[in-house]
Amino acid sequence: MPTIVLGGSAGSHVGYELSRILGASYYDVEVREFPDGELYVRIPVDVSGADVVYVNSLAKRPNDLLVETFLTLRTLEDLGARTIRSVLAYIPYARQDARFNPGEAVSALVISELLKSFKVDRVYTFDLHLHRFRDPRQLFGDSLVNLTAIRDLARYLSEHHKLGECVVVGPDEESEQWARVASEELGGAPYTIMEKRRISATDVLVEPRDPELVRGRAAVLVDDIISTGGTIVETVRALRNLGVGDVYVAATHAILAHGAYNRLVKLELRDLVASDTVLSPISRVHVAPIVARHILGQERR
Ligand code: R5P
Repeated sequence: MPTIVLGGSAGSHVGYELSRILGASYYDVEVREFPDGELYVRIPVDVSGADVVYVNSLAKRPNDLLVETFLTLRTLEDLGARTIRSVLAYIPYARQDARFNPGEAVSALVISELLKSFKVDRVYTFDLHLHRFRDPRQLFGDSLVNLTAIRDLARYLSEHHKLGECVVVGPDEESEQWARVASEELGGAPYTIMEKRRISATDVLVEPRDPELVRGRAAVLVDDIISTGGTIVETVRALRNLGVGDVYVAATHAILAHGAYNRLVKLELRDLVASDTVLSPISRVHVAPIVARHILGQERR
């Protein structure tokens, strides 16, 4: 049975590339907005009995993209797709993973419950923000495959720069997982993480945990998300105060909200790179081959 790859309105760049690698046919899901703001979704091909891979990325317009994804997944089931795999390159609402103040919604739980309610054989995502929920299966069950783009981003930096004596830095506690992966890819470079305290949605305070390790070295700063850029700006400031040399920044999801790109450019970094889970001016690493490797590896088993 041939595989059909379908791209949602923020997933066609990854979906199309994935279809080329898999030798599958590709179609854009038809998505339109009604005058009242509601969404219209139509699957433009017969999927009955087919193996379907639906690709989207739910950043920047998370609410519309979630509804678009819900409508698409349910329709694929209604239309009799034999198997449904979904690549949700960026899953939103993961950072509100606790009730920090009385009365708040624990959005990560609510959104994962909704996504889990659709019949999907496998969900692939990238570097899901995991802080208080350490294991993605706590949120999404066994069907979720949490891939990483950090290894490919670190490789990109090592192939394009002479990194020399560098240290890998994560800006906060949960970034240790990504700092470890980048360090492995960079031949076992030392890594450390910073202490970050969030003051508001846009302001953070960052302090070094291990000042001696970073002094005088080049720093490769890795994180899952760049949203407002506040975390990167404050971390670079703290690192420079400690006397680091060149600074390279790599993040999986370049959301770049609220003029973040302009703020980051002014930091005069040696390089600033992200994957294309969210298309941006710094998206240099493609994630479609990573998904394809996983899908093909699974099929061979
Ligand atoms: C949060 O803990 C994440 O890992 C990122 O560090 C954070 O989301 C980045 O956000 P911003 O760019 O707004 O500081």
